[in-house]
Amino acid sequence: MAMDIIQDYLSLAMQAAREAGDFARAVQLADLTITTKTNDMDIVTQVDARNEQTIRDTVLARYPDHVFLGEELGASDEEAPANPGQNVVRWIIDPIDGTVNFAHGLPIWCVSVGVEVNGIVECGAIYNPNLDEMFSVRRGHGAFRNGERMHVSTQANTTKSLFVTGFPYNVQENPDSVIEQFNRFLNRGLLIRRLGSAALDLAYVACGRFEAFWEVGLSPWDTSAGQLMVREAGGRVTHYDGMDYHIYKRSIIATNGLHHDMISGVLAEH
Ligand code: IPD
Ligand code: CA
Ligand code: CA
Repeated sequence: MAMDIIQDYLSLAMQAAREAGDFARAVQLADLTITTKTNDMDIVTQVDARNEQTIRDTVLARYPDHVFLGEELGASDEEAPANPGQNVVRWIIDPIDGTVNFAHGLPIWCVSVGVEVNGIVECGAIYNPNLDEMFSVRRGHGAFRNGERMHVSTQANTTKSLFVTGFPYNVQENPDSVIEQFNRFLNRGLLIRRLGSAALDLAYVACGRFEAFWEVGLSPWDTSAGQLMVREAGGRVTHYDGMDYHIYKRSIIATNGLHHDMISGVLAEH
């Protein structure tokens, strides 16, 4: 029987995410070198780049012609990400999602790896080594937490629901009126969390811990694996304008489906 190639990519994504996560957890409290990127709040450690490189190396050892798009090392091919091309397998990597938490010793961060084949995310893995939770997904085959099938929450009652959002590193510039939007949700009395890891936010919508997540200004590495998990767990994923979500565009609403219209409505209010 021919090898199931997507399943092989998924196994490799899970292996690479686990190795990178376990390494980061082991060194977390040792000497971290912290440097800043776009501003003082936007930080990176030496572990981020190291993880991205080792994930690349793991994949290249098996698939030397695959390409990469990651937060720290960028795109390995000139055409990424605008032109998915034909017969291109692109590994989309966030080597640590939740770096601020990681740098502060707060155990809410993960490694996210999505695998895009000819422009479509086919599978992915999100690993949180702090809880030894492996979230995995394959398009058309479901989403899983430590091997158990995940389903979004069936909670329709807003007051019994838990929501999560995030803010870009330039939140003080109030891009896209994120502050007014957040105020509108607070004024409605919703229970809202801000975990600081968009990939975990999505995995947690997929497994029913949150009813919904929204954020603007994310990048493909934040969402590639997680958005597919929410879809495969029975949820809905769009942009703020209601269009079907695509990882190269900026805004995301990911829900159990039952709160989607409420959230997009509040975001759209003026
Ligand atoms: C960040 C986290 C955070 C989100 C930011 C992201 P990083 O990723 O996912 O939750 O609010 O927008 O940039 O920098 O920790 O990889
Ligand atoms: Ca990230
Ligand atoms: Ca990151």
